[in-house]
Amino acid sequence: MPALANRLHTLPAYPFAVISQRVAQLNAAGLDVINLDVGSPDMPPPVHAIETLASSAAASGKHGYSGYRGTANFRAAVADYYANRFGITIDPNTQVLPLLGSKEGIVNLSLAYIDDGDVALVPGIGYPAYAMGALMAGGQPHYIPVTEEAGFLPDLDALEARGLPANSKLLWVNYPNNPTGAVASFAFYERAVQFCKRHNLLLASDNPYVDVTYDGYIAHSALEAPDALEHAIEFISFSKTYNMAGWRLGAAVGSAEAISALLQVKSNMDSGHFTPIYDAGISAFKQTDRDWLAERNAVYENRRDLLLEVMPSLGLRPYKPTGALYLWGKVMIPGLDGAQYVELALNEAHVSMAPGAIYGPDGTAYVRMSVCVPDARLDEAVDRLSRWSQRMK
Ligand SMILES: Cc1ncc(COP(=O)(O)O)c(C=O)c1O
Repeated sequence: MPALANRLHTLPAYPFAVISQRVAQLNAAGLDVINLDVGSPDMPPPVHAIETLASSAAASGKHGYSGYRGTANFRAAVADYYANRFGITIDPNTQVLPLLGSKEGIVNLSLAYIDDGDVALVPGIGYPAYAMGALMAGGQPHYIPVTEEAGFLPDLDALEARGLPANSKLLWVNYPNNPTGAVASFAFYERAVQFCKRHNLLLASDNPYVDVTYDGYIAHSALEAPDALEHAIEFISFSKTYNMAGWRLGAAVGSAEAISALLQVKSNMDSGHFTPIYDAGISAFKQTDRDWLAERNAVYENRRDLLLEVMPSLGLRPYKPTGALYLWGKVMIPGLDGAQYVELALNEAHVSMAPGAIYGPDGTAYVRMSVCVPDARLDEAVDRLSRWSQRMK
């Protein structure tokens, strides 16, 4: 066999691929592992999206290539969503691009902007694809410290005072945040856009949890900030908003220049989605009311509250999430870091969690648990973890 490309030597295996392989091995050995690791919604998508998929797939004329920019109707539906949800006017022809899930867009944006020696500014705790995308493109992530005290928001003033690394190109932000559940104010986005404008960066706002929020909180889009349509691109996703993670549908919205750069990469790499998926996405946007989202979010909120209550007795200090699908807890047991805690919980309680270190250097003391498991399984997980932590004391 030929030698692997150099990029595979610098690119680590994707953390969740490693975790799921480990869980599969334990399952194969006959153990029933409860998965609190990945954020794959357990509840069904809106019924109209499924019906539209079926009727569209049965229609003729829907089975050919759908075009590199997706269908015009889908792009218009994305623009309508931004108008109705955030009051922002988006040009569906130049400022919207459908994605095969937002992860794809994140990595391809990196290929569009990052060369050898270039730098992506990445929060010290964040979704792994920001750093992986930079590495895959031959560049480097530069981690900006984030702390619980500062609400897991990067301190842009401190970064400016220290000086940015040479050849910085992208600034990644993600609120409501995976893994912490932290949210960002409009003022934060205003500052972030102006920061990017001053430093000739593209603000990349990864926003798949914008409609998964708790306690009545309504999350912002980065594109609401002045000048954002010149200096920012945002990624939205049907995975979490409409429980459609397996459908692989998302969109990039924002700067026409960035959208065009992303299209240049993508049109050389993929040929768009199956048209019925776009049709189902339109139906999800247009026919899902706020009540459906509120009821779905209330189920997650109850699960969140259960975990918040029990975490201290498991040796974890929780950060109360305002959005997204996770409980982020600092390990308070002396001598144990997040990875060691996760390993023990997996081996001894047969509950799988994500170690904080996979989200970056500021995450090592933490673990992440997902609320994407049916209530009865979550109760069972809490039971197992409680019995395990009693044995540890
Ligand atoms: C912050 C964040 N961005 C992007 C994604 C990728 O989502 P998608 O299913 O749209 O690719 C995830 C998935 O968990 C995520 O948590």
